Amino acid sequence: MHQMLSHPLEIVPPGEAEMIERVTALQTEMMKGRDPHKRGQHPKQQALLRGFFEVGRTVPEPFRAGVFAKPKQFDALVRVSTGPMPKESDPNPHAMAIKLIDVPGAPHGTQDFIMLDQPTFFISDIADYVAFFEAAQKDPGADAFFKSRPREFGLNLTFNVVIASQLERQYWSEVPIAMGGGAARLTLIPDLGNTSGRGPVTEENGLRVALEEHFVTNRKAAKFYFGAQRYIDEATTPIEDATAVWPTPFEIIATLTLPAQDFTAPEQFAFCENLSYTPWHCMPDHQPLGGIQRCRKRVYEESQRLRHSLNQVTDREPEKADFNSLGKFL
Ligand code: HEM
Repeated sequence: MHQMLSHPLEIVPPGEAEMIERVTALQTEMMKGRDPHKRGQHPKQQALLRGFFEVGRTVPEPFRAGVFAKPKQFDALVRVSTGPMPKESDPNPHAMAIKLIDVPGAPHGTQDFIMLDQPTFFISDIADYVAFFEAAQKDPGADAFFKSRPREFGLNLTFNVVIASQLERQYWSEVPIAMGGGAARLTLIPDLGNTSGRGPVTEENGLRVALEEHFVTNRKAAKFYFGAQRYIDEATTPIEDATAVWPTPFEIIATLTLPAQDFTAPEQFAFCENLSYTPWHCMPDHQPLGGIQRCRKRVYEESQRLRHSLNQVTDREPEKADFNSLGKFL
């Protein structure tokens, strides 16, 4: 059975390892029922963008750990993606997955931050995830799960929206990571200059069009502010309930700059398809925390193992040479 690494801020419920195996089996089954060559969640890649992640000089004390310990600029590879709906004119979750490369002290050499455009997750913990997944297997709307959980139903409704551009969304980690001895949830806030002036997309691939218009046609850069929210205690800022809103404010600790660039080469798309993003590509100081994060370790590994073996590629983390080989800045 899978061994869990538990952190002093975590409360691991009995029977968790079995529940994680159940989620992994359900997820793999779902993946095989769609296209197992692709990711089990957020399969539609919109772009792989090169960028620079700059840790500021004024990081507040509780966040001065891991990659935020001192001012530094990291190269970043950002996968921009959308959820299960193939048409972007249909309601969907939207994502930015940031991978910092060549990170000293990170066992895989990388530090990943995976973010969605919703402040919290719509499922609290692994027991609820099993119940949700089992209901969704019988009926895609998962009515049997949501009928007794109006709060989760409401969160799930706002999870799926139609937007104008992924550069003008705010994104959240939704679940916490360690910050040295403390913990934090994370956010990514767009700069005003990212605004597109476009309305909600009406075309199937409208979000990809918006990205091409911004970076390639208009040769514009995009910028985001990276914020962290302090952990206080389990009652105020729960680690184990992914649906709870933390009341602490977000404090800006880094910026992400995505220069104007040509990201459109099919080779770049293929390279990104075979990358692996997981919160468990991390420095020890940023251990993912809480039941949902513990579950993601096993599920992402299995999804990645399956698609890499089908695509006949080996799993390896990118390095500076990969970063340099991608589409040029304009
Ligand atoms: C137990 C809960 C969860 C399960 C079972 C799950 C499952 C998965 C799986 C199987 C993948 C594909 C992995 C791969 O093949 O590379 C994935 C990717 C992803 N997940 Fe989750 N996930 C969970 C929670 C979350 C949460 C809380 C977030 C919030 C940020 C999230 C955001 C994403 C994103 C953005 C991707 C795409 C990453 C990329 O671009 O490669 N997931 N998830």
